[in-house]
Amino acid sequence: MQRPPAIPCPSGRPTRLGSVAPVPAEPPTPSRLPDPQELLADAPLVWAALGTGGWSATALDDLLGPTARGHLDRDELAPLLRRTDGGSPLEVLARLFVLGVEVDLKQARQAGVPETWLVPDGFGVAAAVRLQPVVSGGVEVVVAHDPHRASTRVESDQVLGVGAASTTLAAATPRALVGRTLDLGAGSGIQSLLAEDHSSTVVATDSNLRATGYTRLSAALNARQVDARTGDLFDPVRGELFDLVVSNPPFVIGPGSGYTYRDGGRNGDDLCRDLVARLPRHLVEGGTAVLLANWLHVEGEDGDDRVCSWFPPEVDGWVVQRELASPQDYITAWLRDSDERERFDPMYDAWLDWFALRRVEAVAFGVLTMRRRRDGGGQVWLDDVPQPVAPEWGEQVPAFFDRQEALSRGVLGTAWRLRDDVRLHQVAERTADGWYATSQVLQQEQGLRWSGGVDAYGATLLAGCDGTRRLGELLSVLAVSAGLSEDEAADQVLPVVERLVEQGFLVP
Ligand SMILES: C[S@@+](CC[C@H](N)C(=O)[O-])C[C@H]1O[C@@H](n2cnc3c(N)ncnc32)[C@H](O)[C@@H]1O
Repeated sequence: MQRPPAIPCPSGRPTRLGSVAPVPAEPPTPSRLPDPQELLADAPLVWAALGTGGWSATALDDLLGPTARGHLDRDELAPLLRRTDGGSPLEVLARLFVLGVEVDLKQARQAGVPETWLVPDGFGVAAAVRLQPVVSGGVEVVVAHDPHRASTRVESDQVLGVGAASTTLAAATPRALVGRTLDLGAGSGIQSLLAEDHSSTVVATDSNLRATGYTRLSAALNARQVDARTGDLFDPVRGELFDLVVSNPPFVIGPGSGYTYRDGGRNGDDLCRDLVARLPRHLVEGGTAVLLANWLHVEGEDGDDRVCSWFPPEVDGWVVQRELASPQDYITAWLRDSDERERFDPMYDAWLDWFALRRVEAVAFGVLTMRRRRDGGGQVWLDDVPQPVAPEWGEQVPAFFDRQEALSRGVLGTAWRLRDDVRLHQVAERTADGWYATSQVLQQEQGLRWSGGVDAYGATLLAGCDGTRRLGELLSVLAVSAGLSEDEAADQVLPVVERLVEQGFLVP
């Protein structure tokens, strides 16, 4: 995506770990939330009203200003009310669908909002749902989700807007044209809307009836075709195959099971493990899956091995680990995410005791990717990727598996090419003979934005990798200039080249 969503879902506050609320201390109250199905028929009228009113991510950014997100997260409405007090259609739409405040019925009518989408509020009317503009990979959509105030409790079947986890998955999704795409755990429908742009068919599933209602509503609002089905995990798509599967599942690990959008309802990291184990049965040969996951690092066990062991042999797997949090930091992040205040202490203690009982030393967060093989000889690779990555890096998922295949065919016989976005940064000191380079760093501008030091010989070798000459030929030249035998040069260079291929500096 080119930039983060302009307007946040108040409950979906950004955090490196995703967007969830913590374990409820008491049972949630019965849902007072709207039924999105009831709004479906008039969605085209609302879409028309948004178009006429000049609704877009950029227009709303300009109207509400750069501090809008922070204000909404804290229920600080006064600054935003002042910026929307002119009565223009866009200001009315922003008050209704972004701020979630009342307007005059007359104003709502003038802005083209049908009365089916309005509920009485104070002396005026308010919108039944919230709308969030999202820009991702040059595609702009509007996502419908439940209303929520930062000061009120999240309901058990609440459907959140687009949060940090949603954008993390969208950024990691390959956007090449495909046939059938499955979005498992569709929620508001954001992944389905984005996938619809490059898929011939999109099937969205969710166990929460209200979520599939919202997926349909979001699809109708954007005039997109999404086949939304309600049911547990793969039940609604039994026996069906897909070219692409994306999933932002309820991956948070803890004692809570009260929120469908967050709690998988399984023990520990079992939900993510089940997903990875069952997913390959729904992929066509060569089909790709991308999902978010948390997994445990348990005392006496290797956490990397744990997640890699989840992948069945019918697929190759690539784990992009983004973060490894201590139990304390993990719990704190989620409890802060929903601003628990006085409930923080008891919830923190209960959660930490729950982890201690299971000997949890850390919790990892990452993007799990897989590609279905023809045979059963699948391999799994794990990369620790703590660095900032490009806003969209989904094209790296198939590219990674392609490079691994090329490596398996042999390094020396391949004519590797330096990827176009790689730059060499040099630091040089002035000497009596002029500038002398003391360090050279390779940096990718796109994808996972790997960087790493390289010596003068390595830099020369890479410059020669233009896709026309095999590495074996280049190595012979290098050996001569370095005064090494070809075997000595190969011993030194091959492990480095293999790593450069794995990280995508060199491509076949
Ligand atoms: C974190 S939300 C993701 C929403 C949306 N896809 C996004 O990226 O923002 C997880 C979704 O998974 C759904 N879910 C929870 N348990 C499920 C299950 N067992 N089977 C299918 N969906 C489930 C929840 O209702 C929720 O909508």
